[in-house]
Amino acid sequence: MIREHNCVQFESLSKSYFDGDKEIKIVEDISVSFPNGKTTLILGRSGCGKSTLLNLISGVDVPSKGRVLVNNSSLSDLSENERTLFRRKHVGIIFQFFYLIPSLTVLENILFPLELNNISGNKSRKLAHEFLQKVDLNDKADVFPDTLSGGEQQRAAIARAIVHDPQIIIADEPTGNLDSKTRDQIINILLNLVSDKNKTLILATHSEDLIDLSDNAYLIENLKLKKIK
Ligand SMILES: Nc1ncnc2c1ncn2[C@@H]1O[C@H](COP(=O)(O)OP(=O)(O)O)[C@@H](O)[C@H]1O
Ligand SMILES: [Mg+2]
Repeated sequence: MIREHNCVQFESLSKSYFDGDKEIKIVEDISVSFPNGKTTLILGRSGCGKSTLLNLISGVDVPSKGRVLVNNSSLSDLSENERTLFRRKHVGIIFQFFYLIPSLTVLENILFPLELNNISGNKSRKLAHEFLQKVDLNDKADVFPDTLSGGEQQRAAIARAIVHDPQIIIADEPTGNLDSKTRDQIINILLNLVSDKNKTLILATHSEDLIDLSDNAYLIENLKLKKIK
């Protein structure tokens, strides 16, 4: 279990994409720590690179320069296969459009990350039901995702993201597709998780509404991460 104070760190990190020969810079030489047990926001207008930074933290993508450290060890030194295993075990990801698997029931969606971590049988069903209860969806276990409201789908997606007890929770515009009342409910679930279970929550959003609720907040601006809280 990862328990260090600074759970995730960017160390002299730069990231660019190439469009043919043309370099599209996202960030340049940034060094930032995302503390354990805290909620950190990444803010910025659409297209500025929020999802890119989250993909670097989850190991989906790799830096152009510098390193991503998790628990003081470098994610950037791992192979793609090792990064996939790291992500399965230690990271839970929540997206704006939920991305539940439509052909699986809510319960089966939540069992899926457990299967990937080789947890099955009664143990996994017990865990899945426990987390369905946490997000108040016990009565929806056997229905398919398309019969749920947006808020319910996001609650199911949160249960799926956390059922395997990852240390790092990444949320990419998790409330971008929800009304304000549902948004508050979803944010409360996430914040309670961070405080109850000492998780590291890194949340990307283009809206400033969540700054007050977060511990730390950064704005992507001029290729840097500017600390605004
Ligand atoms: N795989 C990729 N290849 C090339 N360009 C990309 C890739 N992913 C993102 N980009 C570009 O990088 C910029 C930042 O994208 P993104 O991180 O998705 O921003 P945000 O999440 O803040 O909206 C955009 O200009 C986007 O087009
Ligand atoms: Mg994005």
